[in-house]
Amino acid sequence: MSGIESVLKETRRFPPAASFVEHATVPGREAYNVLCDKAVNDYEGFWGELARELLHWQKPFSRVLDSSQAPFFRWFDDGELNASYNCIDRHLPHKANKTAIIFEADDGQVEHISYQQLHDRVARFANGLLSLGIGRGDRVVIYMPMVPDAVVAMQACARIGAIHSVVFGGFSAGAVRDRVQDAGAKAVITANEGLRGGKSVPLKATVDDALADAACPTVQHVIVLQRTPAQPAWQPGRDLWWHELTQGQADHCPPVAMNAEDPLFILYTSGSTGKPKGIQHSTAGYLLGALNSYRWIFDAKENDVFWCTADVGWITGHSYVAYGPLAFGATQIIFEGVPTYPDAGRFWQMIERHKVSIFYTAPTAIRSLIKLGAKLPQQYDLSSLRLLGSVGEPINPEAWMWYYEVVGGSRCPIVDTWWQTETGSHMIAPMPGSLDIKPGSCTLPLPGILADIVDEAGAPVEPGKGGFLVIKKPFPSLVRTIWNDPDRFKKTYFPDEFNGEYYLAGDSANRDEDGYFWILGRVDDVLNVSGHRLGTMEIESSLVANPLVAEAAVVGKPHDIKGEAVVAFVVLKDARPEGEEARRIAAELKNWVAHEIGKIAQPDEIRFGDNLPKTRSGKIMRRLLRAIAKGEAITQDVSTLENPQILDQLQQTQ
Ligand code: WTA
Repeated sequence: MSGIESVLKETRRFPPAASFVEHATVPGREAYNVLCDKAVNDYEGFWGELARELLHWQKPFSRVLDSSQAPFFRWFDDGELNASYNCIDRHLPHKANKTAIIFEADDGQVEHISYQQLHDRVARFANGLLSLGIGRGDRVVIYMPMVPDAVVAMQACARIGAIHSVVFGGFSAGAVRDRVQDAGAKAVITANEGLRGGKSVPLKATVDDALADAACPTVQHVIVLQRTPAQPAWQPGRDLWWHELTQGQADHCPPVAMNAEDPLFILYTSGSTGKPKGIQHSTAGYLLGALNSYRWIFDAKENDVFWCTADVGWITGHSYVAYGPLAFGATQIIFEGVPTYPDAGRFWQMIERHKVSIFYTAPTAIRSLIKLGAKLPQQYDLSSLRLLGSVGEPINPEAWMWYYEVVGGSRCPIVDTWWQTETGSHMIAPMPGSLDIKPGSCTLPLPGILADIVDEAGAPVEPGKGGFLVIKKPFPSLVRTIWNDPDRFKKTYFPDEFNGEYYLAGDSANRDEDGYFWILGRVDDVLNVSGHRLGTMEIESSLVANPLVAEAAVVGKPHDIKGEAVVAFVVLKDARPEGEEARRIAAELKNWVAHEIGKIAQPDEIRFGDNLPKTRSGKIMRRLLRAIAKGEAITQDVSTLENPQILDQLQQTQ
């Protein structure tokens, strides 16, 4: 376990201000302890009560948890409900005119959408989908820019019981194709173009590429939102405009009563091996997790203006844009653009303009904004802020302090939220009115989340010792299975090494003397680049698919802004290139990966070798490659290597 010990010694701590505690949803440590005790003493009673209190059921459930098919757990499984009804309709009697979404476009134009208007847009689009024969259980891939229509599309699917699978708009045609095929999607929803930082993104053309050569025979319809005047290539019979589909549709569409366990969506995420995994979430358990954590961790109040900067292509954009805040009936910002356009003051200007009270973003964004203008926030009135959040990767204490002091005016608690695509909602994060916070720690689990740190044998480790992060009991918002691959689900998340009982998160962590969790990073071959998960295998496969490449190994190295950067070690089929030729081929391979997977997966650095360091059994020694990528001296024992001389070569070439 020596590889995952933390060297961090952070002693600063910040208790919540009395004025914050006074109005907090969960006020004070004692109130938090009471909830934790309640969950431990009556686990099913605790979750059952929350599910009854927070969700609207069309048919009430009589059973909370069914573990008979473990690890395929079922929650509230004889109940029926509709997620879209819970996010929209139930608010209409008392807040039809409340703003649900404040949309700020890339060019700064602003649109306010009330709950009634959102309802009508969702109903019209849902009726449009129904008119195409899309309904319960059908899969629909959504490949959209960050505009309210993306949320409308997700909510419309939920309303009619179709299973959406959102693919991040920065992914390439190949990535779209893989996901459409795996999901067996009947329709793809996209836009002619997206707009980001003043540039247009050709989404429809990418979808055309993905579907070319009859690669995706299940797709019958491509629905295209007209975001810009551009006229894309058109396949009559398959392609139709969003505005034509919804024209004349009724603004009323009855929400279908779904079983609690019916899949609400699939979201693909990177794993350590093979192709991306289709993480399948349930309707009731997922929605309960998203709403309840929104309420607790963001200390949500009726008049908050909430802004989560995540794109709907990621889980954060699902739970804390498309579902959690709407289920609460909140007002939230949706932003089409990027934090640095027209300049690095954009976020701060928007917080001032829309009087944002809760701001939730990623460490990578914070680090890049520090670099581009550490003093910029002081030029704006950020006094509306009362709470800040962080998600996606560990936040380094110095970035945390800047966020706390300069953005939050030393007045706003920071909720550092640890969770995953698979967990659906926050798992370890401070209840802001209950816990002291420490820069760089995600603090303690939410009540009802039995997180722990264990060794290889599943035994708890002492405080201060690194180990595997596990969750010892199933919880409602946990992934139900991997779409089309239940065996992989079981092996990945409930492996036999831990008796098949614990959910294995794939992260290492340790705990300090207060029991606070400090996340150290992934234990598998998953990289975290700018808060986005990338499997090294996926990037390697894409490199090897290039005709020039014989073999490739990919590792991460620390990066100031992105957290981690991709470094690829490549063996060509021809002789190892040098000088100008090496630079030319490296550039070509970088573009290749950007084209195959997406720009986020593009290597920062490519090194060529005659071979890769391998053991006698042929296994690539990645830890050596990691050391080379970091420029570290190799102190490890290399006697088991087949070809130790290759290390010198890889260290020299660049
Ligand atoms: C990492 C994003 C430290 C972690 C919600 C996890 C974090 C992976 C934090 C999941 C955090 C996420 N502190 N690490 N607050 N939040 N991570 O599925 O390694 O895109 O396993 O979900 O991000 O990434 P995913």
